[in-house]
Amino acid sequence: MKNFTRPPISYWLDSTERTDYPYLDKDIDVDIAIVGGGIAGITAGFILKRRGLKVAILEVDKILEGITGKTTAKITSQHNLIYDKLINDIGEEKARQYADANESAKEFIESIIKEKEINCDYSVMPAYVYTQDKNYVDKIKKEVIAASKLGIDASFVTETSLPFPIKGAVRFENQAQFHPRKYLLELAKEIPEDGSHIFENTHVLDIKESNPNIVIIEGGHKVKANKVIIASHYPMENFKGLYFSRIYQERAYIIGVLAKESFPEGIYINAESPTRSLRKQRYKDKQMILIAGENHKTGQGKSTETYYNNLKKFAESIFTIEDIPYRWSAQDCITMDEIPFIGRITSNNPYIYIATGFKKWGMSSGTASAMILSDIITKNYSPHSDVFDPSRVNIKGGFTHFIKENLNVGYEYIKGKLNLNVGDNKIKTGEGKIVNFEGKRVGIYRDTDGKTYIVDTTCTHMTCELQWNSAEKTWDCPCHGSRFSYDGKIIEGPAQKELEITIIED
Ligand SMILES: Cc1cc2nc3c(=O)[nH]c(=O)nc-3n(C[C@H](O)[C@H](O)[C@H](O)COP(=O)(O)OP(=O)(O)OC[C@H]3O[C@@H](n4cnc5c(N)ncnc54)[C@H](O)[C@@H]3O)c2cc1C
Ligand code: FES
Repeated sequence: MKNFTRPPISYWLDSTERTDYPYLDKDIDVDIAIVGGGIAGITAGFILKRRGLKVAILEVDKILEGITGKTTAKITSQHNLIYDKLINDIGEEKARQYADANESAKEFIESIIKEKEINCDYSVMPAYVYTQDKNYVDKIKKEVIAASKLGIDASFVTETSLPFPIKGAVRFENQAQFHPRKYLLELAKEIPEDGSHIFENTHVLDIKESNPNIVIIEGGHKVKANKVIIASHYPMENFKGLYFSRIYQERAYIIGVLAKESFPEGIYINAESPTRSLRKQRYKDKQMILIAGENHKTGQGKSTETYYNNLKKFAESIFTIEDIPYRWSAQDCITMDEIPFIGRITSNNPYIYIATGFKKWGMSSGTASAMILSDIITKNYSPHSDVFDPSRVNIKGGFTHFIKENLNVGYEYIKGKLNLNVGDNKIKTGEGKIVNFEGKRVGIYRDTDGKTYIVDTTCTHMTCELQWNSAEKTWDCPCHGSRFSYDGKIIEGPAQKELEITIIED
């Protein structure tokens, strides 16, 4: 097959209408302000409004176009191999909470789809973590024992319907997949009116803690709210809870393949590296195979095309490919112990809550976060909150990861600052690079109309040096994963401030 013909775009975004909610242009009062309109924020708004509270979703861009619009959208409590590790690291009781929270989230999604009769390509099927490497078979067997102990319907199999041999797999029954935007856009429709709102193009800059809390929007407008949920993917609040030192971001790539062969029932991911995650999706009157993988820490990868090409080669090794109409990439937040942060932003703050760190399993964990936070807010109790408590400490396995990640951030910081040998300054059309411009390290991109965009490549979050991402034409931060467009606009946080930019026309 020849090379990719279309520019990258997520199938979920391409197959649904864009939303058009208003911009916040006055001060308002609500019970709960929710920062971010992804799966965590929209589901929390939906539940809290149904429980009689007035909510406001505040979204900097358009709702459901962040990571939720760029996922693979498997709905499962099978988060690769996790339950044996959880039982060892935090004990059986908390591991059971993790499993129950994600199983409950899956049931919640199904019950809402049935109740509202949402047509969102939802289907129930088994989920598999498979391996083709004999060294992983024992780990998979241990996962089956651990998951079964926690009440999950899990079994060990040596065959799947995949068109290649495996050494073994753990199979979970009754897992699912859907079209995330078709589902969540319907939930969003229930939120506005009766004192509740969704605001788009509304950037939350700051949260002033008082009684009530005051959420400050770009442009100076204020939202007064008794409680605030930060569901901005990477927490937009930098210093409370020091989340920048406790979370890192990992990117991954997805291709949508049309093949001669049909794809079997089930959702699949391998246990070993490089990651290969597979599912099918209805596409017009055909079937598309979604293949995801090629994970790397944001801003520390190779050329993006390499990753897409690796996925394409993998697809070609299994299927007879007719076309690859879709490809896209996204990143998710991961905590040091690989358990999401869901709860109070700091242990002594009963007003501001956080939901993040879903480790590429946010369809279930993002829904679970909305259920847990809604229970804490309206009932003062959730049976699943302890395991996700953001203030947890002394987690086995988390500390080593914490040191490793923060050493890595320190290394990238210094490497970026010392990298003054930035090559010659000639830039071709459509190219971006780091150059030495009048003695300063700057990023330059030339567009096809002859405009040159010169940005300060110092990340506005905590001053790491940005790297050029050639396929997506973005400036990416290797430290905590912020991403900026070639003209300096924020694509993904934690950064909250655009890059300084100068534009030169030919
Ligand atoms: C490649 C890939 C594949 C994945 N596949 C799966 C899968 O198969 N199954 C699964 O369960 N999970 C999967 N995930 C994970 C899942 O998609 C994410 O965990 C989830 O979508 C995150 O949802 P969110 O609501 O936290 O973030 P988002 O959807 O990113 O929403 C956050 C919103 O906050 C907004 N925002 C940010 N800052 C501000 C601010 N200051 N003011 C106002 N708004 C702000 C953003 O614009 C954004 O819209 C995958 C992730 C990746 C990267
Ligand atoms: S994202 Fe933290 S320094 Fe760039």
